[in-house]
Amino acid sequence: MKIETIAVHAGRAIDPATGAVTPPIHVSTTFERAPDGEYPLHYTYSREENPNRDALEACLAALEEGRKALVFSSGLAVVAALMQGLEPGDHIILPDDVYHGLRKVVHEVFGKWPLEISYVDMTNLAAVRDAVRANTRLIWVESPSNPLLKIADLGAIGEIARKSNAISVCDDTFATPVLQRPFNWNIDMVMHSTTKYISGHSDVVGGALITKFDNYLFERARKSQRFGGAVPSPFDCWLTLRGINTLPLRVRAQSQNALLVARFLDNHRAVERVLYPGLPAHPGHEIAARQMSGGFGGMLSVQVREGRAAAMAVAARVRVFTRATSLGGPHSLIEHRASVEGPQSKTPQNLLRMSIGLENAGDLIEDLDQALSRM
Ligand SMILES: Cc1ncc(COP(=O)(O)O)c(C=O)c1O
Repeated sequence: MKIETIAVHAGRAIDPATGAVTPPIHVSTTFERAPDGEYPLHYTYSREENPNRDALEACLAALEEGRKALVFSSGLAVVAALMQGLEPGDHIILPDDVYHGLRKVVHEVFGKWPLEISYVDMTNLAAVRDAVRANTRLIWVESPSNPLLKIADLGAIGEIARKSNAISVCDDTFATPVLQRPFNWNIDMVMHSTTKYISGHSDVVGGALITKFDNYLFERARKSQRFGGAVPSPFDCWLTLRGINTLPLRVRAQSQNALLVARFLDNHRAVERVLYPGLPAHPGHEIAARQMSGGFGGMLSVQVREGRAAAMAVAARVRVFTRATSLGGPHSLIEHRASVEGPQSKTPQNLLRMSIGLENAGDLIEDLDQALSRM
């Protein structure tokens, strides 16, 4: 089946009790035992399993062509569950521009574990190879990355992980399975902040971990979720699954809009640099064209001439864009990324990150033009 059909059908069935086409929301926390003490319908207690969670997990596993999925109460809950599965002293490789929230979790929460951590430019394969140690257990990759839109060669990084007996995890939040299937590129597990494109309407926080193979880190993440409790509510699962119906349509429309916006910005005199893998001049364009299909995503960053104050002034003048963090929803969002990331941020001070939404591309371009042209 093709992705549009999977997005509408996977994990759903007509409700046998009522014939309802749209799945019901199972808010019950507990499920009845049979007189013999067994649970013939499999469900026991909603921290363990819930029908809405199972449906979403089945759909996400199908979308990524994985074996199994787990859904969590946020994207970072996935990260925390994975880190809990590592032993103290294990070594992990993270991208040097990894999503800043992940950096916070590994340092602020797992600092006392402790883990050995190497931050590596994932576009430099020799550096990735050199970073591998005997105790490397996990190699994390984000492509396109947040917020620098760097492109990593997933096939090559997956291969390095396999040769080193480490597990590779790709954060596929920016690309989504519509544009990129990491399992086709030697990657072992995929992570999503489903808060973003997967749910798609800026109204639910969630995360997912999908695996291609049975492995100990996935099973340990399952345990830390089941016993530790970082589960999404039935309503959150239902909302996310509803959003997935339109995932392929939304992501392709957002990618088309982003390409038009990127081309416009690339020719604007007030712009120093546009970071968008769909532009032929982007250093990762060739790899992105090979490992992504149907578009380059709805995220882009732009470096404004004349520095931080000029970037802040552009963000202050937009009218159609909304000044807000997060991404992947219907509204176009703009943010001064370094301020969001805090004083430790290495993101250039003149960088604005944009999540291009579902509005008319001409309206977005007009808005950016008026915001940039007064500089
Ligand atoms: C690329 C990426 N990964 C992970 C996360 C974390 O997800 P959440 O905010 O759902 O915990 C985010 C959030 O912005 C993100 O952008």
